[in-house]
Amino acid sequence: MATGSILVTGGAGYVGTHTVVELLNSGYDVIVMDNLVNASMESLKRVNEITGKTVQTCAVDLLNKDGLRDIFKKNKIYCVMHFAGLKAVGESCEKPLLYYKTNVGGTVNLLEVMKEFEVYNIIFSSSATVYGSPNYLPIDEKHPTGGCTNAYGKTKYFIEEILKDICTAEKQWNVILLRYFNPVGSHASGKIGEDPQGIPNNLMPFISQVAVGRRKELTVYGTDYDTPDGTGVRDYIHVVDLAQGHVAALKHLEKGCGCKVYNLGTGKGYSVLDMAKAFEKASGKPIPYVTAGRRAGDIASCYSDASLAKQDLGWEAKLDLAKMCEDLWRWQSNNPNGFRTEGSS
Ligand code: UFG
Repeated sequence: MATGSILVTGGAGYVGTHTVVELLNSGYDVIVMDNLVNASMESLKRVNEITGKTVQTCAVDLLNKDGLRDIFKKNKIYCVMHFAGLKAVGESCEKPLLYYKTNVGGTVNLLEVMKEFEVYNIIFSSSATVYGSPNYLPIDEKHPTGGCTNAYGKTKYFIEEILKDICTAEKQWNVILLRYFNPVGSHASGKIGEDPQGIPNNLMPFISQVAVGRRKELTVYGTDYDTPDGTGVRDYIHVVDLAQGHVAALKHLEKGCGCKVYNLGTGKGYSVLDMAKAFEKASGKPIPYVTAGRRAGDIASCYSDASLAKQDLGWEAKLDLAKMCEDLWRWQSNNPNGFRTEGSS
């Protein structure tokens, strides 16, 4: 059993807030650490509303080592769930040093402080991006990693390697690497959800902003892929399923697990056009679109074999595409400007 709190870095962000809700609902004590660069305190107020609990929050940056130490000094931490980091693929290609310093440097700081305070349990928010362009489908955990084409993806890969190395060197560590496929949707309450700043890079936030009238039309990048309708295929997973995957991973870690890696996906692939159609149905709004050439760095298809998570963690994704779209629409229509109250583009 957890003999202390769960420290959630990046706990005010999209996957972070949803995971905090599931942890609190499962009876864990949670401390959120977030520098609020890409998130707002409003999201944590909403978490408090959903759970009826007040989550302890520290506005500390991973690069502030003394700030980190202070959290570990004042609290008994059992495990760290590490979500904090920058995540914009395009930006990472323009500012690679910023990404390496924040994501890799920040994680090294965190691990050093964990070691100082003898906290050896960590669950890391990794990504299917570590697989690069897939050699085979569905992708299982044995698929080679490291063929990433952008700096963001490489930071995930490098952090995975660092965590594997410390596990090899020091047997007291328990590390779980969770490789997410494409998280979408929102908590069923519609109170929390993904709130991208500026123009969304990802498909579903873009589609939902078209539906709510913030964007004119969707641009479909690539119609000549070797897929059933020519558009890119991905494994979209409801963020609540993903969050519950973290709780299942924590329960597994509590038994003592060494270093483990799990895919968190549904195992099903849907195309860009499938997603637009499903969202039209859920929202009752048309999603006008134009087609364009392929987006640099994109692959045709990517979907998971998530059977290892089912076998070891007793977890599998339960929520279907219709539910992903309904819940996303509830969040988007109740919060047309995300967590901001003023209008924004
Ligand atoms: N797409 C469009 N139009 C858009 C946005 C996306 O057609 O406006 C298409 C893409 O070309 C792709 C699909 O929708 O075929 C999904 O694109 P996303 O950007 O939503 O997701 P990706 O699979 O490209 O990216 C996700 C994560 C990244 C991660 C990457 C690789 O968001 O963080 O998977 O694992 F790096």
